[in-house]
This record gives sequence, C-alpha cells and structure tokens, in this order.
Amino acid sequence: MVKYVVKKGDKYWPSAEMKKIAWVSDEKIYAKALKNPVKFWEGLADEGIDWDKKWDVGYEEKLPYFKWFKGGKLNFSYNCLDRHLDERGDKIALTFVPEPVGEKVVKLTYKELHEKVCKFANVLQGLGVKKGDVVSIYLPMVPEAVIAMLACTRIGAIHSVVFSAFAVDALKKRIEDGKAKVLITADGYYRRGKKVVLIDKAIEGSKGTTIKKILVVNRIGKKVSGRKFLDFNKELEKADAECKAVSMKSEDPMFILYTSGTTGKPKGVIHDTGGYAVQAYWTAKWDFNLHDDDVMWCTADVGWITGHTYVFYGPLLNGSSTLIYEGSPDFPDTSRWWKIIEKNKVTAFYTAPTAIRMFMRNPEKMIKGCDLSSLRVLGSVGEPIDNDAWNWYFEKVGGGRCPIIDTWWQTETGGTLITALPGIGPFIPTVAGKSFPGVDHIIVDHKGKEKKKGELGFLVQKSPFAPGMLHGVYKNHKKYVETYWRFKKYYDTSDGAILNKEGFIRITGRTDDVMKVAGHRLATAELEDSINGHKKVNECAVVPIPHEVKGQVPVAFVVLSSGSGNDGGEALKKDIIMHVDKTLGPTARPAMIYYVKDLPKTRSGKIMRRILKSLLAKEEPKGLMTLVNPSSVEEIKGIVESSVGKEKGNVKKKVVKDKKKVVESKK
Ligand code: PRX
Repeated sequence: MVKYVVKKGDKYWPSAEMKKIAWVSDEKIYAKALKNPVKFWEGLADEGIDWDKKWDVGYEEKLPYFKWFKGGKLNFSYNCLDRHLDERGDKIALTFVPEPVGEKVVKLTYKELHEKVCKFANVLQGLGVKKGDVVSIYLPMVPEAVIAMLACTRIGAIHSVVFSAFAVDALKKRIEDGKAKVLITADGYYRRGKKVVLIDKAIEGSKGTTIKKILVVNRIGKKVSGRKFLDFNKELEKADAECKAVSMKSEDPMFILYTSGTTGKPKGVIHDTGGYAVQAYWTAKWDFNLHDDDVMWCTADVGWITGHTYVFYGPLLNGSSTLIYEGSPDFPDTSRWWKIIEKNKVTAFYTAPTAIRMFMRNPEKMIKGCDLSSLRVLGSVGEPIDNDAWNWYFEKVGGGRCPIIDTWWQTETGGTLITALPGIGPFIPTVAGKSFPGVDHIIVDHKGKEKKKGELGFLVQKSPFAPGMLHGVYKNHKKYVETYWRFKKYYDTSDGAILNKEGFIRITGRTDDVMKVAGHRLATAELEDSINGHKKVNECAVVPIPHEVKGQVPVAFVVLSSGSGNDGGEALKKDIIMHVDKTLGPTARPAMIYYVKDLPKTRSGKIMRRILKSLLAKEEPKGLMTLVNPSSVEEIKGIVESSVGKEKGNVKKKVVKDKKKVVESKK
C-alpha cells in the first residue's frame, strides 16, 4: 500500500511517492508567490479558469472594498461543466448515496449534469428569474441542490442557500433580505430511517415574503398541491436542453451565504464570480491534490460554505468526481462512512473534527473491517483539531499513510487560506499550516500592531486580499466595515492565533462572541435573541463551554419574566428548547439552561459573559469591581455548583476542562 507520508522527528512530511504525484512540491512557491501576489494570482486565473474576456486590471483596492480580475468576463457553470464535456463528458461528476438501504445510488456524468443544469436554468428563466435576481435554495443533500445552484450561475442569478436544518424564522429572514421570488426546496429527506418533512417549514417560512413560486423536489413522496408549487423534476424534464451561459463580469456577485456575527442578525456574505472561481479551483486542486482519477468526498452540508466550495464547486471546476450522501454518520451504524469510502473508492476525504471525535467514542470494529486503501489525502475543517482526534484520524482512517490537511478558512474567505499542502507539508497535529501561496497573514495586538513571532494575538490578513474573499455584506455596508475592518488596512478574521518563526500558524479559536458547535458557527447573540423571544423569558446570557465531541456547546442563563417565578422547572426548559428549535433550528439548542435571578452587569448594562464563563469553568471570576450587581455572581456560582450531576433533561454530555473530564449531567 502506498505511503504518502513519512515521519521525520516529531513531524510528518510528504513521502517520495506523494512528491511524485503532488501538483506542488517545492517550498519555494511561497516566497515566489509573495514577491508579487497579484501577478501570482493572475497566472493562476489564466491557467485554471476559462474566461470569455480577459481582465483589464488584475487587482484594484479601494478599502474596505477590492476587486479581482476587473473587466474580465466568465460564466461559472461553463467552467464547472461545459469545458469538461469533450474530454470528460462520460465521467461521473456526482455520486449521490441515498439513506434508505436498497435505494439505488444516483450517478450523474458531466454530460447528464450539464443537461439537467441547462434545463433547470431554462425553468428559472421561464419563471422570470433574471441576471442579478436572488434565488433562495432550501434543500437537503440531494443532486438537485447542485443542479439548482449551477443553474443560477448559468443565468447570472445569485443563489442564497439556507441550511435545511434551519428553522422557519431563519429561512424567512434570509428570503426577506434577498427579496427572492423563487424558492427551491424538497418535500423532505431521509434521516436515521425516518422521513423528515421539509416542505411545511418552507411554506411557513415563505409566507408573507416576496416568494411567488416554490419548486419542490419530490424526495419522500409527500403530496404538495397549490398554484404556487411546481415539481422540480417535472418542470426540468419539460424544459429545453439548450441554455446559453450568460457571460458575467468577474466582480458580479455569484452567491450570498448568511453567517453568524457578533450581533443577533446573520450577515449575508457576498461572493463574486471570478475571484471565487480562481480560489475554489486552485485550493481544491492543491489542498486535496485532485487529479482526473480522484473521487472527492467532503461530508459538509450544502448549507455551509464548505458544502459550496468543496462538495460541489472546487471538485467540479477541476473536472473531478464528487460524492454526496443522505442521512447521518451513525445510521444504520457508525460504519456507514467507511463503507461509503470503500464502495466508492474515495481518494480525498474532508470532514470536521467533531465527526472524528464522535467516531473515536465508538467501537473500533466499526472501522476496522473496511478497506480504506483508496484514500490519499485527508482534510479537516471547521474548528481546531486536537491532538487525540488528529492521531485517531491519521491512524484509523488514513492507516498512517495519508497526510492530514488541516484547513483554516471561513464563510467570508470563500476557500481555504491556511493549510499545509500535501506535497510540501509538514503535517503537524494542532497546527493548521502556512498561509496559502499568494496570501499573507500576520498576528496583531488590539491596536493592530504586529506581534512578535510566537506570540498569541489577532489573526489578520494583509493586502492584497485573497481572490475568494467576500465583497461586502448584502445591503449592509456598515456591518461590513464594523465586522471586518477595525484594523483599517488588515482584514480581521476574528480568530486568535500564534504564528511561529517558520510561518506555521496555530489557530486558537474565535475572539468574538461566536462559537463553533459541532463545527457549526453560532453567535451567542443569535441564540440570546431567540431565547429572549420566549414569552416567559425576561433576559438571558449565552456562553459556550468545551464539549468532548462537539468542541463547544452553548449554555444559557435565563432570567424569567416577572410573575414566572425563579424556577420554571424542566417543563419550561423543554419549552425554551422547542422555541429555539422553531426560531433557529436544533443545531442551536442550548445544552444546559440555568434559571438565575440576575445576570452580572456593568454600570452601563453590559452583560459580563466572561464572568459566566469563569463560573462554568470553576475558576475564580475576575473584575467584579465593575459590576453593578456583584451579588449575582455568588448566586450563580451556587446554582452552577449545585447543579453538577443533578441536571435533568434529554441531553447527555461530557465536558472536558484542562484535559480533566468533568461530567455535567442531563439524562
Ligand atoms: O474559528 C475559525 C473556525 O471556523 C471559523 C469559520 O467558520 P465558518 O464561517 O462556519 O466556516 C467554517 C468552514 C470554513 C473560523 O473563524 N475554523 C475553521 N477552520 C478551522 C477553524 N479553526 C481552527 N482550525 C481550522 N482548520
């Protein structure tokens, strides 16, 4: 079996075999790219993407905005599909593994996918969708997701994908922001052996909005009737198979994706066409070393940026085969993923540490019997990967043969930005790697002054900003400036990090009020807004605590409204959780709820979440002098201490603190 890595000292490096097959294997690429990043990216744009018209200006910066490949024209769907047809028309572009055992796996060749995309683009045009219009997509992991997305890009419509587990209110807010006229959804999907209905949420979420037509993918055979509804595939079948790809300006927006920030309302991050295409193409190619015979499987959902860039767009731009699956990693049992890899001969596998930690807790026999020898590259994304998870992933999944490409990036960056490359390495547990060639990150203090190597600080990006970076917040210039440009000339990632002398970056996590729950991004403010909306809640504060599997989970401190008493009991906790499910979705559920009389606040009324965090970590809280109500701290301390081991509810979880395991109850 080919070994793609070798160990030297305490680090792993690419083996000679890996160097032989790697797209990039010479370390000099970093210095060369940084000498003139614009020229470097222009070279990549030229080589990797088919342009209808070459750009006039490679990069133009008028901060806080910047443009790549100005004057250039291209069509994104052409680059993902048409240009592959001659050479790879009959190659499998997409494999869909449904959940129900016995249901046929769907395989679409480039030719077939191209035809479906063209037809569906005509359906959209027939419904009056034009260049620049926003189309909302609320779909689970089905082939129609990429058909719909690529159809939008074919006619220049802007897609806005909403995660299918998000609740009605979340969908509604996103539809209203983009003023979409068309919503694409499904009647439901299969999960853990059950049919999950989606259409009811879609109908409720689009009520009273600009949506005129709802295209429904028939997945679970639920009847949907009414003049507003159209059957996705029936419409597609009727449509013409010819659809000219509209030539778009490089800077034209291609999609919006909403993500959580420090304030309650999610921001619509705007990605353009040309710059995003260049970054998606090259990062997918170099990070995962994609060649013609590669099968890429990124386990992310299409509702997140990873689902956009590495489930669909990166692999398709490269003419590779990509795989999607329906259901969950532990159904019918925890061997499901490994069987999918074995059966489909997956070569590049990309997942989140939270999934790895879940598998680590399961019996080894679930993975041992599966043949994972097709794997060449493993990727990690979404949160820092700890030593144990890294080693388990490396040994049990990669058989000690495959590099782990730990990729740091964000919804805002469009593609990966900090990572080791398979042919260059080194691969070091808990260290993401170096800035991608042509990108420069530094660490600064709170005033924006560069810190010394090896010191912890704020991770920022220097100009010129990577081509795949966001181009604003949809209809909200103020938010864009406030969120990303506090350091004026640097892009603020909101992450803490350490950069050592050799250029390796260790990410320490978010420095704002954003947490990563099972790799999903959630703002404390978003959850607080939701809980505050419950009729019996006066106010609340949400803080994250470490969690053995999910990385972090939210804990809520709730002050009940007058007349509701101080203790709402278990029934009210359940009701609050249901309310969160309804407004945000189950991914945002608080793991614990504490009833308190008062929240620690400063004289200006600011809730001191830092103090709550200390109390949960059983640390002595500091800075109590600034509080207007210091007695609240004693009360909460007592509540937290007395709750250990007594909490009831329906979540069973363990909290890890400083490597010591503290078990917080909930049965
Ligand atoms: O805190 C960083 C963390 O995820 C955040 C971005 O989340 P999101 O926009 O949902 O995008 C996730 C997928 C790209 C970052 O600010 N993060 C992402 N990747 C890593 C990471 N933290 C550490 N290591 C990573 N590899």
